[in-house]
Amino acid sequence: MPCPPMGLVRPCIAAMKGYVPGEQPTEANYIKLNTNEHPCPPPEQVLSRLRSACTGDLRLYPDSGATGVRKRLARLFGVAPEQTIVGNGSDELLSIILRTFIGPGQRVAYPVPTYSYYQQLVQIQDGQIHTVDYPDTYALPQALADAAARVTLLANPNSPSGTLVPLHQIQDLATRTNGILVLDEAYVDFADGGAVELVQHHPHVIVIRTMSKSFSLAGIRLGFGFAAPEVIAQLWKIKDHYNINRLSLVAAEAALDHIHIMRQNARQICCTRDRLAAALREMGFHVWDSHANFVLARRQWPAAADLYQELKRRRILVRYFDEPRLRDCLRITVGTDAQITRLIDTLQDILSSQVCCR
Ligand SMILES: Cc1ncc(COP(=O)(O)O)c(C=O)c1O
Repeated sequence: MPCPPMGLVRPCIAAMKGYVPGEQPTEANYIKLNTNEHPCPPPEQVLSRLRSACTGDLRLYPDSGATGVRKRLARLFGVAPEQTIVGNGSDELLSIILRTFIGPGQRVAYPVPTYSYYQQLVQIQDGQIHTVDYPDTYALPQALADAAARVTLLANPNSPSGTLVPLHQIQDLATRTNGILVLDEAYVDFADGGAVELVQHHPHVIVIRTMSKSFSLAGIRLGFGFAAPEVIAQLWKIKDHYNINRLSLVAAEAALDHIHIMRQNARQICCTRDRLAAALREMGFHVWDSHANFVLARRQWPAAADLYQELKRRRILVRYFDEPRLRDCLRITVGTDAQITRLIDTLQDILSSQVCCR
């Protein structure tokens, strides 16, 4: 077989490592607390509309303007439909934003540790990554605004820490940032916060959200964004014309029509999260105050990598990040009450029996 033309791969792509998503086990008997999905199924109202949408109309392309979803977003968030855009997950919106604003050598700034996919998205554009370290408290680093970046990314609440930068600090950042400021609010429904209103006064601010977490709809891949109409019009040129499939549009419309169910479920997750955090602290973990549907827990001993492996052996999957700032931490998604009780009991058993002690 002739050699594939590897020399034609753009050097920035050849040099980069691909993103490694959290494990999706093929066997069903895991308690899955590793990728921040919602433990509850989507509301029956969403599922029944999906079933009714499985008709011969699936032969037709979807509405490329996602009109129904964007009308609902506009109504719910007090903006014009022209200030909204819908993506195949908020990952696609991030990709569209970077493809719109970043070319080779242009600077993208973000505080770390954070959502690690930002790195690949900048590398794909051959952009320049400018990271600013979070302090141990995960307070907003002042140096972020001084980075003079073309695009600044801020996950708020942040992952993996779950910490939240308060709105007045976000407002201040928006005032001090000249380039595009992207506020990634994937987890904001589990927090008291949200900065969508900023897009009305700051034409360089883009706010993105997702149905993957609070709406229990990670499987339909639906993210949505808000910005000034002029910015949305530019992003629109980049997006695939049929980026959201027919069934996802139907599910998203139904989910927005029943947004109160999402809010109820999010409140339940917050209660379980607080119980989990208290139990982990009781066991001697340091747990950052979480405003998301996961907690970040640190413990010097036993090693987090060993704890992760032992939990996995006992069929509980949590997230371990093999990188310097996070090597002594586990990120644990908030599951159902029963799942979290199992996790707490299992951790207590591991710690008391010291099975991780090498
Ligand atoms: C901070 C953050 N932003 C964006 C995403 C992407 O979410 P999705 O593409 O499922 O909407 C994630 C996913 O875990 C995330 O943690």
